[in-house]
Amino acid sequence: MAITDARRLRALRSGPLSGTIRPPGDKSISHRSLMIGSLAVGETTIEGLLEGEDVLATAEAMRGFGAAIERGGPGSWTVSGLGVGGLLEPDRVIDFGNSGTGIRLAMGLAGAHAFATTFTGDASLVERPMQRIVEPLQRMGVQALLRSGDRLPGTIRGPDAVVPMEYRLPVASAQVKSAILLTALNCAGVTTVIEPVPARDHTERMLTAFGADLDIETDDDGARRIHLQGERDLRPQKITVPGDPSSAAFAIVAALIVEGSDVTIENVLLNPTRTGLIDTLVEMGASIEITDRRGVSGEEVGDLTVKASALKAVTVPAERAPSMIDEYPILAVAAAFAEGETIMQGLGELRVKESDRMSAVADGLRACGVEVEEDLESLKVKGIDKVAGGSVEARHDHRIAMSFLILGLASRDGVTVDDTRTIATSFPDFRPLMEGLGATFDEPDGD
Ligand code: S3P
Repeated sequence: MAITDARRLRALRSGPLSGTIRPPGDKSISHRSLMIGSLAVGETTIEGLLEGEDVLATAEAMRGFGAAIERGGPGSWTVSGLGVGGLLEPDRVIDFGNSGTGIRLAMGLAGAHAFATTFTGDASLVERPMQRIVEPLQRMGVQALLRSGDRLPGTIRGPDAVVPMEYRLPVASAQVKSAILLTALNCAGVTTVIEPVPARDHTERMLTAFGADLDIETDDDGARRIHLQGERDLRPQKITVPGDPSSAAFAIVAALIVEGSDVTIENVLLNPTRTGLIDTLVEMGASIEITDRRGVSGEEVGDLTVKASALKAVTVPAERAPSMIDEYPILAVAAAFAEGETIMQGLGELRVKESDRMSAVADGLRACGVEVEEDLESLKVKGIDKVAGGSVEARHDHRIAMSFLILGLASRDGVTVDDTRTIATSFPDFRPLMEGLGATFDEPDGD
């Protein structure tokens, strides 16, 4: 008897795709709303919160730190904050599941408090490097103990008084920048973070909206200096979370590569630190029209109309990586359908995401009949006329799973992804939303 394995999913050649969708709330902004809301004095309300597993882990963690967090209805949440420095010592291990952003930002929160917090995560998260967070926090007086090889589980204990510092980020990482700023909120002096290449700036925007004493200077070479004066009260806010461009990316590329498609994706966050994929696809010849640009909670959003397009290969420079760091797997899928060889440079950080995304993408594309060259920092994808499809391993990584399902929709034979459960971490409605546009998936028989 054939056994159906619910974890496996197959995407079949589909199309044309048509219709209108709204992507789920932005994951980065959702995490920050819950965390910064927990540090304000009074009640913050949030609309459009992403209710994916990663963000739900953050809600649970903030409850562990004593904040009162309630869900009023779909996407509608309230957070009763405890004030800067007012979090309480958790009486449990804080488990962030698959979420690197959640845990790294929460390590920054923990560093601002003179008690011990122990963190852990799932099989993917306990293999990801944490020294990049711990090292700057230690300079501020925070104590940290990690499992050997700088991995989780680990314990953070903040000092009685956080020491201010000036710190130049050695890697372009919004997570590291944000962890430092969250610790610095409870510091009597001014902390300065210098980022040579700007990464997503949602923490700075949100802290400013909450009334933090933060200012930013830009050097002649484009480096940003972020100064934060700590020990200021934060005022609760009403937040509306814009749609996640990193989730919209899957529908955008699907519409481009599935012949005859015409899809509208509404309410997409257009913060310039997040739009590298759109810029790159437009350079490749994509038909993407942006309409009704508007402001939402201190961020810009717009509606995108995407039509199937003949794509041409480009070289994506290393400086663009921070503005599209999560989008390389889906860009590599678009590149497989483009004419010529697409080169993506400066991708070292992809090796330490939810999986080693460089090798996951390279192996997945090869399994689908696409030629790929991979070295330490760059990836070359040779576009072909007819992409065959095949069987792909998701490696416990939501973006790998979704990227290859999208490839399957435009492939000759379809794509089976071995385990799609992690999609629930960032885009729980991925399947129904894509089905609504005309995508076909099924659950293939197990062995
Ligand atoms: C994020 C920062 C990025 C990104 C992640 C979300 C954030 O990580 O990959 O998905 O919300 O700050 P890095 O800071 O490691 O680049």
